[in-house]
Amino acid sequence: MIFGASGLLGQALMQEWKLDAVSGLTSRDADIRNAKRVLEVMRETKPDWIVLAAAYTDVDGCESNRDLAFAVNRDGAVNVAEAATQVGARLLFLSSDYVFDGKKSTPYEPDDPRNPQSVYGRTKAEAEIRLQELVPDCCVVRTSWLFGAGGKCFPDTILKQAAQRPTLDVVDDQRGSPTYVVDLARAIIQFCRGNAKGIVHTTNSGDCTWFEFAQEIVKDAGLTTTVRPISSEQMARPAPRPAYSVLSASRLKEYGIAMPNWRDALRRYLEQRQS
Ligand SMILES: NC(=O)c1ccc[n+]([C@@H]2O[C@H](COP(=O)([O-])OP(=O)(O)OC[C@H]3O[C@@H](n4cnc5c(N)ncnc54)[C@H](OP(=O)(O)O)[C@@H]3O)[C@@H](O)[C@H]2O)c1
Repeated sequence: MIFGASGLLGQALMQEWKLDAVSGLTSRDADIRNAKRVLEVMRETKPDWIVLAAAYTDVDGCESNRDLAFAVNRDGAVNVAEAATQVGARLLFLSSDYVFDGKKSTPYEPDDPRNPQSVYGRTKAEAEIRLQELVPDCCVVRTSWLFGAGGKCFPDTILKQAAQRPTLDVVDDQRGSPTYVVDLARAIIQFCRGNAKGIVHTTNSGDCTWFEFAQEIVKDAGLTTTVRPISSEQMARPAPRPAYSVLSASRLKEYGIAMPNWRDALRRYLEQRQS
């Protein structure tokens, strides 16, 4: 059972998950803030695994809608975890690189201390802690910088802007790993098949800044737009972002997973976008 089936990742999960019966839910089917409804849908379907990909993901919006952010991302996740325990289903929860403060300069390991800087990051960090208390064998998949078809994402925004402007200014002081939802969905399916437990970091391999990511997008799309590096200060946004949030892939080999490089993933996304 997938909560968040209409999201960027949820759509990829629905498409990639071929060999099992999968039930995908949107907020209309079950708002995760409604504990009673969440338990009801689980009792109807009796899933073996629950993938919780539903979240309030507008990182800047979370700063001004703090109550909603905690109600969905932390308390909603707790509702799902409690219901999962009641029906005896395993739980996989999607979390974020934004649980870290970005002060490291080498990849974050799963057991590095959390120190979120934004409201969104705090909602995810608190959800992780609550879920691990409630469901000790749950699997927490931290990922970052998602892109894919079927929703708003960074490459899509860059391509739309590049079609209209001769130059684009993009921040060059935040480093992370872009992640194609198709590759992440395939890894998640492997985790469920492999009975994964604990925190696993899962992103495309390699890292870049948003500026370097934008440069690659423009180049691969064959556009002539000039991409210029700027600092985060020059592009003030409500939520602070970590300067460095590369996640270590150290646990992926336990599940026989080697994530493709983000450049390769980007090319596949661009092909998918054109078809
Ligand atoms: N996007 C990123 O860069 C990124 C990075 C790191 C981690 N993550 C995490 O990865 C997961 C998937 O992200 P995404 O980008 O695929 O998300 P997304 O595209 O924003 O989709 C969010 C999904 O959550 C559902 N949802 C929102 N509020 C809900 C509620 N109250 N009750 C039930 N469902 C609700 C939405 O359903 P409706 O369509 O019905 O509203 C939608 O299916 C999330 O947990 C996110 O925090 C994302």
